[in-house]
Amino acid sequence: MRVGVYPGSFDPTTNGHLDLIHRGMKLVDKLVVGVLNNTNKQPLFSVQERVTVLEELTKDMPNVIVDSFTGLLVDFIKRHNAHIIIRGLRAVSDFEYELQMAQTNYTLDREIETIFLVTRVENSYLSSSIVKDIAKFGGHFENMVPESIVKKIKYKYNPSAN
Ligand code: PNS
Repeated sequence: MRVGVYPGSFDPTTNGHLDLIHRGMKLVDKLVVGVLNNTNKQPLFSVQERVTVLEELTKDMPNVIVDSFTGLLVDFIKRHNAHIIIRGLRAVSDFEYELQMAQTNYTLDREIETIFLVTRVENSYLSSSIVKDIAKFGGHFENMVPESIVKKIKYKYNPSAN
């Protein structure tokens, strides 16, 4: 069985992430979406909130599961008996960081292969940070994230608004 892991912070999940899940799940028998619980960062959404959002978004995808992890990605991958990491590449600016991560993970575990999926043009500018920046200042971000989480993001920045 070919198991792949699509890891990330998903704070919040964007349309770019969802597109990669759709495409990644076709490449493997089982895709594990791995949500990083980064103890060094103060996220907008708790790890449980991020997992719940992703579970809801992937509920009709039979070969996709969602799990969270702390610590090293290679340990998470081993726990799921996976050998493939799927990551998205948007622009050249992503490349240096992604190359370093892929080479580091390979050094830590020689069984692991990282596969990069090129982001669709319409999502190539998109990131969770950009969504948060726009949402924070009341801008229009509705077309950048799955509809089901628009309200959740708005509530984080303005709990009194409907
Ligand atoms: O969505 P992100 O924030 O770009 O995802 C980054 C992620 C979660 C893939 C990366 O930070 C990660 O794998 N963190 C776990 C720690 C780890 O394994 N570090 C060594 C490899 S660089």
